[in-house]
Formats: sequence, C-alpha cells, structure tokens
Amino acid sequence: MEPFRVHLFVCTQQKPEGVISCSANGSLAVLDQLDREIQARGLDGDVQLTTSGCMGLCDEGPVMVVYPAGVWYRHVQPSDVREIVDVQLRDGQPVSRLVWNDAPAMKAMSVEHRQKVRAAMAAREKAGVLPEGLDQMIRGYMPSRCLLTALELDIFTATGDGANAEQIAMRIHANARAVGMLLDALVALGLLSKSGDDYRNTPESARFFVQGSKDNQRNGLLHTADIWHRWSTLTEALRRGSRVPMDRGKAPDWTRNFITAMQRNAKDRAGLVVKALGTAGVRRILDLGGGSGAYSIAFAKASPDLQCEILDVPEVVPLAAEYVSKAGVSAQVSLRAGDMLGDNLGSGYDLILLNAICHMFSEEQNRNLFRRVRQALAPKGRLAVQDFILNPDKAGPVRAALFSLNMLVGTEGGASYSESEYTEWMKAAGFSEVRRISLPGPTDLIVGRAE
Ligand SMILES: C[S@@+](CC[C@H](N)C(=O)[O-])C[C@H]1O[C@@H](n2cnc3c(N)ncnc32)[C@H](O)[C@@H]1O
Repeated sequence: MEPFRVHLFVCTQQKPEGVISCSANGSLAVLDQLDREIQARGLDGDVQLTTSGCMGLCDEGPVMVVYPAGVWYRHVQPSDVREIVDVQLRDGQPVSRLVWNDAPAMKAMSVEHRQKVRAAMAAREKAGVLPEGLDQMIRGYMPSRCLLTALELDIFTATGDGANAEQIAMRIHANARAVGMLLDALVALGLLSKSGDDYRNTPESARFFVQGSKDNQRNGLLHTADIWHRWSTLTEALRRGSRVPMDRGKAPDWTRNFITAMQRNAKDRAGLVVKALGTAGVRRILDLGGGSGAYSIAFAKASPDLQCEILDVPEVVPLAAEYVSKAGVSAQVSLRAGDMLGDNLGSGYDLILLNAICHMFSEEQNRNLFRRVRQALAPKGRLAVQDFILNPDKAGPVRAALFSLNMLVGTEGGASYSESEYTEWMKAAGFSEVRRISLPGPTDLIVGRAE
C-alpha cells in the first residue's frame, strides 16, 4: 500500500565547496520548479515530493527517483520539469531521454562512491582533521559579518537595479577596492549576482534588504548589527559575570532599530498570543515593556471592549505611539512612560503581559516584579509571560541557550530561564493554575492566575 500514487525523491545533498554534488549541479532549483508544477497541475494529493541525501551518483546529478515505478532520472534541469510532471507524474510514462536505466553501471558508481567516502572519512579521522561541521561553526561569523556590514552600509539599496563597484562605493562613500571585495564575497554567498563588472540584487536581497521594498527588513536587522559589538565582549563578560561597559555609546538609531526589530518578531506572534490567552472576561490589560505595542494592538483589534495600557521607558513611548496610531487603535491603547521595576503599576487589571521582558532581569528582579504584578491584578486576573524557555537541564533549546548569552553581554543580570523557575516564582508571588502554553516558534507562554 502506498500513501501517495507517486513518491518522488530528489537528491539535494550539499557537499563542501568544490566537491561535485546534486545541489551544486542545481537540484534545489529543480526541486523548487517541481513543487510549483505539481501544485499548478493539481497533483498535490497524488504526488509526494521528498528531498533525499546522497544516492552516490553525484557525477550524473541532479538525480531523482520515482517510486513505486522505480524510474531513475539524471542530469535533470529546471527546463525538464514540466515534461517530467506531465509525462511521468501525471500520465505514468517515463521521459525516455532523461531516464537512466543502466542498473549495473549505477550500482558500480554508487558502490565506488561509498568506498571513496568511507576512505576519505577514515583518512580525515586518522589525520585528526577538524570535522566540517565544527569548522563551519568556528568560521560562521564571517558570512554573518559580511551581511551585517552590507546592511549597515546599505549596500543592497546602493546596488539598485545594477551597478559596478565604483558606482556603489561612491553612493555609500566608501573605498572602491574594499567595496569590490565585499561585493564579490556577497556574490559567493548568494546574496548578489554578478555579470561582467556589474552587481545585481538577488530576488531575496531585493525583497528584504532594499529600501522602498514592501518587505524591507533592514532597519530591524540593524539591531542585530548593533548587538554584534556586545557579542564581541563575550569572553570578557564571562570573566566579569555580567556585561562589559563599552566606550562606544549606543548607535544614533539604536532605540528605533531595537523597536523595529521587536516589531518584526512581535507582529507575527501577537495573533498567536491573543488566540492562546483569549479575550473572554478581559477588559483591562497592562502591557509591561510593550515595545512597539504589537501585542496591545492585537488585543485591541480582537475585542472593541478592551482597554490596553502600555508602560515603557520614555524614549520608547513615542515610537510605540506611532505604531498604535498607524493601527488606528489610539482610543483603546494608552501609553505611559515609566519604570516597571520601580513605579506603581496601578490596579484592577484583568491581564498583565510580560512579553520578552523577564530575560532582561535577574531572578530577584523577576520575583519582585511578579509580586508587584500580582498586586496590580484584579481578583482572578492573569499574568502571561512569553519568553524563550530553557529545558529543565538548561542545556537547550539552542535559541534559548544562546539568547541567555545575549542577555549576559547586554544586561546586568538577565538570562533565559526554565519552566520550573518561572512556575516557582509565580507560585511564590501568589499565583495558582500556573501552566505552560506552547506556541509555534521559539518562545512559549507561562500563565498564572491571581489567587
Ligand atoms: C525585549 S523588548 C520587548 C518588547 C515587547 N514586549 C515585545 O515583545 O515586542 C523589552 C521592552 O521593555 C522595555 N523596558 C526595559 N526595561 C524597562 C523598564 N524598567 N520599565 C519599562 N520598560 C522597560 C524596553 O524599552 C523594551 O521596549
């Protein structure tokens, strides 16, 4: 019994640069085209398209195999895809010009490949060569730094519809030789293309990094470029136990970049949080450290009876006001400048939100905050914390563990925390019915009810 009439495996194995492979021969473009054509023909329910690892036939790639027919294809190009979908996948007939049916030759090639791979692995092992994955991790900052610098200098916008290194250097007031080197690296990384002396944005770069594009994310990503400098102090922060004072002040647009970055994350998650918490019985919400206001805006839009109050530091309040006004919910969302750790929080709220807040603070600060939040809630009101939640042993998930270090280099006492820590702090502050609500993505909710 087959769950699908046809199951198509396409090799997308990636190998070190310079080593022949199906992906180096263009199998990802073939895969993309297959997916589009299968959908366009309405064959989704009949055909399962699956990527596969190496089949040992790299010299003949891109390679794919169709089951249960057992038909193998080689040297497949995107231009072949429409015929394969019509003839093989829809009509069940092989596309003879691309079929590879010399089973003894295929087997011999596969076996030879397997032996070569095993011999290479044994040789690397014997020579004590650093495994590829470790090597990549060590040098991972290089591509990251290239992209961050390109964003800082707004190189993708300067590239526009196509320009050479001198033109781009002139537009960003930088050195032409050095800019040429970065542009070539960006081409190698697949972020630009090059024809003769001219560079062009790839469709992805044009969409996400160029000013004027609807999906431009440059401003939010500049926050990552800002915190790069803090990450460079990680070694020293480990010696000190908290963030290292830095000579360089905050970048001029630091707060705006930060809030743009917060908005980028929050706008996707706000709907999930509203759905998970619901609005039944909720009239007044306090959004502590509300940032761009994305969560208050989403709650206000979900229920016209709701009033939300955002409390944030003075320099963030005008930025939040812009988002609130643009969303057309100013009548439901008010803003207050203040310090959530020291100021009176108010009283009678049905729901208090701490989205991406607790990681900024130490255990003691969070315990205190939870106690004061408890006092500010109406009877049976709820506290909802959304954050990265560490595993019980704290050694994962990767995003949460790395984010903890982000707080080490960026705050006095912040960190990521585990579910049991949040639960214990909430119970100690007088909350009951404490539970975790899983959300899609890297952060979850911990919710408690005021007793
Ligand atoms: C990581 S952002 C989260 C923003 C928002 N809750 C979200 O999830 O998008 C933290 C926010 O808390 C604010 N904040 C930090 N310390 C604060 C304090 N002591 N009092 C009030 N707001 C604070 C920051 O200005 C920032 O807007």
